Amino acid sequence: TATKTWSSPSGDILLGVIGSPISHSKSPVMHNAGLRALGIPGAYVPLHVEQDKVKETIEAIRTLNFRGINVTIPHKLAVIEHLDRVDPAAEAIGAVNTIVNDNGILTGYNTDGIGYVRSLKSEAVSELSGRRIMVIGAGGAARGIIDALLQEQPSSVVIVNRDEEKAKRLAGSWSSRGDIKGVGLDQIQGYIGGTDILINTTSVGMHPHVDDMPIDPDIIPEGIVVSDLIYNPLYTRLLLESRSRRGCIIHSGVGMFLYQGAYALEYWTGLPAPIEAMREALLGSLG
Ligand code: ATR
Repeated sequence: TATKTWSSPSGDILLGVIGSPISHSKSPVMHNAGLRALGIPGAYVPLHVEQDKVKETIEAIRTLNFRGINVTIPHKLAVIEHLDRVDPAAEAIGAVNTIVNDNGILTGYNTDGIGYVRSLKSEAVSELSGRRIMVIGAGGAARGIIDALLQEQPSSVVIVNRDEEKAKRLAGSWSSRGDIKGVGLDQIQGYIGGTDILINTTSVGMHPHVDDMPIDPDIIPEGIVVSDLIYNPLYTRLLLESRSRRGCIIHSGVGMFLYQGAYALEYWTGLPAPIEAMREALLGSLG
């Protein structure tokens, strides 16, 4: 039997998410369903925090004895300097999305990348070791997931980006971690043939621009895994056309959102996350 890993005078577990804007966050619905399924009394609340109030907010977390906080746009970098400890992986990525409060000692983690990998492995491809991965985009989202993907020993990673220099710089930051290169989007045809798993990390295709695609699906090898970090829409046009025209196995970004939350809830409670209850609540709130 699991032991309770938090304590608060009221006995309830207090959780929340800070960001701006925050009203559209799906995290409260997902985590409150998770708490209910675990039978843990408490609540997860959305907290609107402006950029000049991050320090006071972190102090308030200690004062009010919140057990955990998720951090979203635009505070993932800004919170770091106010924490007591930062997990090395979060430090390397330069972004914290989850804070754990151990009796006033605040530790920052990043569950986005590991959440993405757990989702990919449980929903699309059982084994990543030896696979050839292509990532479209070289921004913050790409950085977080590539760091986690490299832990799985893929045989190669190719980062493809409109701005080629940015792709090369990002690839260079892991040069000691295996076969990883950066190329321009205009050179994608020369590399995509050897891909087993193709991942879109750009915002191309996100609501309301649902007709846009980062690449022409006709160049995608038949039958490979195609994954998109976007979850609004649930399945982007890139995913739908990869499946219908190229027979690909597709993986929606909603899984990354679900599992980054699952890891956070596990860190806060010490219990295995009730994945299906959280998934049901999340999908319900997406309509
Ligand atoms: P995020 O944190 O979501 O990754 P970001 O750091 O701003 O956001 O990165 C956005 C990524 O999407 C970049 O790789 C960007 O390409 P550039 O570096 O060339 O700008 C990519 N991106 C955004 N809009 C794009 C578009 N219309 N076509 C191709 N790539 C695009």
